[in-house]
Amino acid sequence: MKNWTNLSYANVATTSPAAHKASMEWSDALARGGAAEFGGEAEKNGMMPLRRAAARLLSSEVADVCVGSSATELLCSLAWAVSPPRGSNIVSTRTAFPSTVYPWSRVAEANGAEIRLADHDEALYTNPDSILDLIDDTTSVVTLSHVEYSNGQRYDLRRFADAAHSVGALLVVDATQSMGMVPINAVLSGADAIVSSGYKWLRGTYGAAVAYISPEIRDDLNPGLLGFRSHVDIWDLRADRMELPKDASRFEYTTIHFGAALGLAAAVEEINEIGIEEVWKHDLTLADSVVDGARLLGIEVASPLSDSERSAIVSLRLPEGVSSEEISRRLQDEYSILVTSRAGLLRVSPHIDNSQADVQSLLDALKHLLS
Ligand SMILES: Cc1ncc(COP(=O)(O)O)c(C=O)c1O
Repeated sequence: MKNWTNLSYANVATTSPAAHKASMEWSDALARGGAAEFGGEAEKNGMMPLRRAAARLLSSEVADVCVGSSATELLCSLAWAVSPPRGSNIVSTRTAFPSTVYPWSRVAEANGAEIRLADHDEALYTNPDSILDLIDDTTSVVTLSHVEYSNGQRYDLRRFADAAHSVGALLVVDATQSMGMVPINAVLSGADAIVSSGYKWLRGTYGAAVAYISPEIRDDLNPGLLGFRSHVDIWDLRADRMELPKDASRFEYTTIHFGAALGLAAAVEEINEIGIEEVWKHDLTLADSVVDGARLLGIEVASPLSDSERSAIVSLRLPEGVSSEEISRRLQDEYSILVTSRAGLLRVSPHIDNSQADVQSLLDALKHLLS
């Protein structure tokens, strides 16, 4: 079996061993005994470990956090719940990950609302002012990837929350590329909702995601996706009425891969134990080494590097004529090093499982491949 060096947490984590263990134990128990091993009470409480862990990571209340199967699913349910009205607009960026925008496009199409996307320059950099310029009195939602997936650009959430709120709009944050890497205080950020998938910086498996839904907006939100679990008492099964829970769990509507959620809870608790500030410092130190090493090799860094806009995602522009696709594939095939080719750039995204030795291996391999 190969020993991989995963320097691509912006793509898919090599699952935290604690998460993998919890998820496998749950799967094994289910395979052994079905509902005898995972019964009604366990199913009812199945989201709680992850809700507690994510709330701790976001410095929020457990009541403000819910669990879903993917970030995209939670964003879709939220978009229908908010349902921006005819004549209003939704502001985002052209570089955003499609799932940050598509759920809103779908609702905008149905309602007759407008999507406004801020442009970027040739380095994929989006001037934050150009996003702010799109916000006006008819804006209903500002939706941003906290950290852009292609080049790691990070936005100041407080600034956008204030801008959105000043016109009565909501700030919805896709934190899939930041939660678990960047410290986020949900309340201080001012965001109305924060959604994150679990299989990247949080180091879970596929199949679980979390959302923070601010208590300020929650009562008015009727989720776009409903099911038996949407009723406040999930085992009082009657199709002729439904009362949503008061807390964020109103967005939990059905069964999920509970093993993924239990595993993700274990992975998030690992981050909580290390401390997110420590994780952030560690990841940025490795990102610095990627930047310094790449420059010594004559490789241009396309990611923003100022303290206020950077992250642990470092995207490299390889020399003219060298394909990032091919280099990424050769790093994987010949050196067992995982990075990703995105938008013509070689994206490196180290995390807590990585060391300086991993970064050095990448730089040594790049030197050979480019010489
Ligand atoms: C910003 C962002 N949001 C969402 C996703 C997808 O999340 P999920 O697979 O949980 O829907 C990705 C995946 O790359 C992403 O980068």
